[in-house]
Amino acid sequence: MQVSDRIQYHLDELEVASDPSSPYHVQPKFEAGDQYILDIGCGIGQTLIASQLGNRRLVIGMDIELESLVYGRKHYDSIRYINGNAEHLPFADNSFDKIISRVAMPYTDIPRSIAELHRVLKPGGSIWITLHPLSKSLQQFSDSARQLSAKGVLFRSYAIINGCCFHLFGRLFRWPVGNVIESFQTRGSMARCLRHCGFSDIEFENRRYFKCTATKSLPKS
Ligand SMILES: C[S@@+](CC[C@H](N)C(=O)[O-])C[C@H]1O[C@@H](n2cnc3c(N)ncnc32)[C@H](O)[C@@H]1O
Repeated sequence: MQVSDRIQYHLDELEVASDPSSPYHVQPKFEAGDQYILDIGCGIGQTLIASQLGNRRLVIGMDIELESLVYGRKHYDSIRYINGNAEHLPFADNSFDKIISRVAMPYTDIPRSIAELHRVLKPGGSIWITLHPLSKSLQQFSDSARQLSAKGVLFRSYAIINGCCFHLFGRLFRWPVGNVIESFQTRGSMARCLRHCGFSDIEFENRRYFKCTATKSLPKS
């Protein structure tokens, strides 16, 4: 069956997620207590599908992009698909044990998204997210320059400046056209943002992927 480029991208990522020997493979770990699970920017649900979560109480894949959700709902019935935005999560407070987000946070207004993750996570619950280091943004900038794409160079310059703003002032700005936002992240900018929102046990790993995990602190008794 012919599928769009977007769906093909997600299917390719599903192969990567299912193949631990792939150089691009990066998957979250789930505990038995992680019964209510949310994936933000799930695409067709590739990270959840490859995680083979079995009989959890609730596994939700959420994305702003409808086409991917429709494809996911048609093909993978272990996941509930919901259309929504990371910056305004359509869930009640304290709903999830674990929230994951692979390669989606850099396309959101991170201070708002992280505040929302914190709101819908149960106390003691944890997040697992992947981020974009500066080196990735610089690589994308030089790719655009090599292709002599003026539009690409302009957009990539914006994403780099936006990442600097996030690092220095904790704020991000939208690209003036199309409600788009993008940035790179540093350990410092993310740690400050996560701590400000109430996360603790913040850890980073920057090998093949720039990963971050954190826990929603339990209320002080
Ligand atoms: C690079 S893809 C990653 C898909 C999948 N998580 C993976 O790892 O292969 C980024 C996804 O984030 C989604 N996305 C971007 N901005 C978002 C937002 N503000 N809220 C929710 N999803 C968003 C996109 O529609 C896209 O499906």
